Amino acid sequence: KGVITIDPGYKNTGSCESAITFLDGEKGILRYRGYSIEELAEKADFLEVAYLLIFGELPTQEQLDKFHADIKEKSVVDDDIKKILDAFPKSAHPMGVLSSLTSALTAFYPTSVDVNSEEAMYNAIVRILGKFPVLVSWTMRKKHGLPLEYGDDNLGYVENVLKMMFKKPNSEYVQNPILVNALDKLLILHADHEQNCSTSTVRITGSSHAGLFVSLASGISALWGPLHGGANQAVLEMLEAIKEDGGDTKKYMAKAKDKNDPFRLMGFGHRVYKNFDPRARIIKVAADEVLGDLGIEDPILDIAKGLEKEALEDQYFVDRKLYPNVDFYSGIIYRAMGIPVEMFTVMFALGRLPGWIAQWREMRMRKEPIGRPRQLYVGETHRAFKPIEKR
Ligand code: CMC
Repeated sequence: KGVITIDPGYKNTGSCESAITFLDGEKGILRYRGYSIEELAEKADFLEVAYLLIFGELPTQEQLDKFHADIKEKSVVDDDIKKILDAFPKSAHPMGVLSSLTSALTAFYPTSVDVNSEEAMYNAIVRILGKFPVLVSWTMRKKHGLPLEYGDDNLGYVENVLKMMFKKPNSEYVQNPILVNALDKLLILHADHEQNCSTSTVRITGSSHAGLFVSLASGISALWGPLHGGANQAVLEMLEAIKEDGGDTKKYMAKAKDKNDPFRLMGFGHRVYKNFDPRARIIKVAADEVLGDLGIEDPILDIAKGLEKEALEDQYFVDRKLYPNVDFYSGIIYRAMGIPVEMFTVMFALGRLPGWIAQWREMRMRKEPIGRPRQLYVGETHRAFKPIEKR
């Protein structure tokens, strides 16, 4: 008490106790509620994982059916939200639009703020799980001048995401199971990652008892940055630039190591993983599979693999324990699926949504105090005010 320890970036500061996600950065272990990420990515679907993260147990079929039915029932977005969407220029980044629309939902559904009963909390949760994929698809369709879509009650959660994103006017949308499986897996791998930047933001915003939707909107904003979720877009842009530049990976390796050059190898390094990122391992294999299944040959995948091999053998990267992270290969899969690059971080947000919700719910249920770090003041000491003519 009374002693303040300064820890910029909270590298060694625990902000809460949590029973949601276990992460061992040295051993490369990631588990949601005790279940390994490898097993969940292989055997579960995204909605099951969302239920697991939020409520703590894998759902029975009956629980899952009810959860899905409640989500579908709440998936209609107030038509006036379209007016807000319309006011954005087409050039707006979809993450900014998504954050704004998510925040705006609070105005349309004010009961989601006052969540003092479990029932009110549940309603807010299924409401956002229902509406979020609609908003995700709208941010993309707006940018591409396509009419806005709604989901289809007969489809699964992930199937609906794809349909709402890709359905063309005046034509049937035919589901491609390869895309559904690939997206399911990617969303599961992104679903939670304990107290990362955006999740901590959601928890700290929510700790003031601001509503769920605005807490999520602040998380979306935090995720947007290139050091966090925005890295998936930055990776693809970097790989494209290397390709345009004749595929000279060595040049970019040298830039990344040059302390006078702000360039970093995007998709490399992690605050917690110091051996390997288990998500990146799964995604690397999935990238090969998905591109193979879709019959796509992407030279960018070869550049990525080459870059990874060089980095893993390079002393600079070895010394600093820098390995490919979740964002290194995910963009290659998104691209193969036909998802535009500026939507990559939005897809990350869609995956992270259940994690943010679970962490927000845990924070509220544990009645955590308002988040309020201290500081060490290093500014001027007491000064006498100077009138403007004397400055
Ligand atoms: N390229 C080149 N050097 C790097 C990189 C990189 N990608 N990442 C870290 N370093 C160096 C850094 O310059 C520092 O070197 P030195 O000790 O000589 O000063 C050392 O490694 C430690 O880095 P740090 O920035 O102190 O580490 P951090 O834990 O604060 O940052 C990070 C972690 C993920 C922000 C960082 O590794 C990075 O900027 N990576 C690139 C962006 C990226 O891929 N982000 C996605 C992260 S995973 C998914 C997510 O969180 O959303």
